[in-house]
Parts: sequence; structure tokens; C-alpha cells
Amino acid sequence: MSGAGDSSGGNTGGGFDATKRPPGTVDVMYSAAEIGARVGTLAADIADTLGPDIMVVAVLKGSFVFTADLLRALHHFGVHPRIDFMTLSSYGTGTESSGKVAITRDISDDVRGAKILLIDDILESGRTLAFARELLQDRGAALVQLCVLLDKPEKRKIDVNADYVGFSIGDSFVVGYGLDYAHYYRELPYIGTISTD
Ligand code: IMP
Ligand code: MG
Repeated sequence: MSGAGDSSGGNTGGGFDATKRPPGTVDVMYSAAEIGARVGTLAADIADTLGPDIMVVAVLKGSFVFTADLLRALHHFGVHPRIDFMTLSSYGTGTESSGKVAITRDISDDVRGAKILLIDDILESGRTLAFARELLQDRGAALVQLCVLLDKPEKRKIDVNADYVGFSIGDSFVVGYGLDYAHYYRELPYIGTISTD
């Protein structure tokens, strides 16, 4: 599906168009209950491995729902993180996506010596998380572990793996639970695929 993700559906100068609608209905792939159960086991795993004194860096926008639920599940296991956010964008040159990643909004906290849990919605090409991890390591983080809601291993372009994965999926475009198509569907409590018929 073209034009998908954070970079699409931008304001073209005409203001908010209230006549626009999401393009279709959503077929559930993972229900709210399935996601909730998985978030709980992920939090237990993270707390076991990293302990209570960590820093969470969440990559916006897509990870905001997952991060909010995961943080509350981590609280249950005694983890009390410092929390910060960054927004990253990837640029394409011509027809091929070049994979150049840029910081749109940076974190404000000092990461030196921190054990960091870096959270994103989807690990796809791997470029975004490889860039963010290297950035945090260069700034002096003691450790950076990666946590993603969804992994699409078939779409990997560079060699990066997440330490914690909610669900591993094939090559399908998914929305909901923070993930968008043209800025729609982020509010859905489940994850699914768009069906247009
Ligand atoms: P990458 O690993 O650098 O390719 O980054 C993947 C990013 O593309 C994710 O963080 C999402 O913002 C976006 N993305 C990839 N696949 C999907 C999808 O299926 N639905 C919504 N956004 C997606
Ligand atoms: Mg993203």
C-alpha cells in the first residue's frame, strides 16, 4: 500500500477536511485481550532482564499506545523508568527509499550511563531503530535494548534484531493500537488489516 505510515496524509494547505473518512473497515489480527496478555509477559521479561532502574525512550508517533500500556505493566513488576520521547523520520531519494533517518524531535534527558529500553511500534527495514540505537550509544548510554510491538523479519534491510518482540508478522500492512494509515486508525484497541470491500 503506498502513501502509508507517518509521512502520508499530510495537510496540503486546505485545512482539516471533515468530509474525509478512513478508507475501510479493519479485520482483527490481534485482539485487545491478546495484546494485553502479550504486553504483560513482555513486561515480566523486561523487568527480569533490565531491573527497576532504566530509562525508556519511545519513538513517536506509532509507539505511543504500546508504550503507555507497557509502562503500566512494567510498574506492576517494580520498574520505575525515566521516560522520554523522540520523533524520527526517514527520507527517500527518488523512487527508492534511501533509508536516511533524521531527528525531528529529540529527547531532552541525559542518557550517559543509562540502561535504555528503546521502544518502537514496528521493526521493518531496521533503519529507524539502528539509527536511534547508535545515537544513544554514541551519547554514552551504558546499554540499549530494543523493544517492538511488531516485527516484520521478511522486510529487514539491515542486520538489526529486537530484544523484545510483541508479535512477529508477515509482510502485511497493519493499523490500530497506535499504528496509522494516513493518520487514521491509531485509536483502535486492536491490531488489524484494512479491508476496502
Ligand atoms: P523501519 O524499520 O525503519 O523500516 O521503520 C518502520 C516504520 O515504518 C514503523 O515505525 C512505522 O512507522 C512504519 N510502518 C511499517 N510498517 C507499517 C505498518 O504495517 N503499519 C503502519 N506503519 C508501518
Ligand atoms: Mg514509526
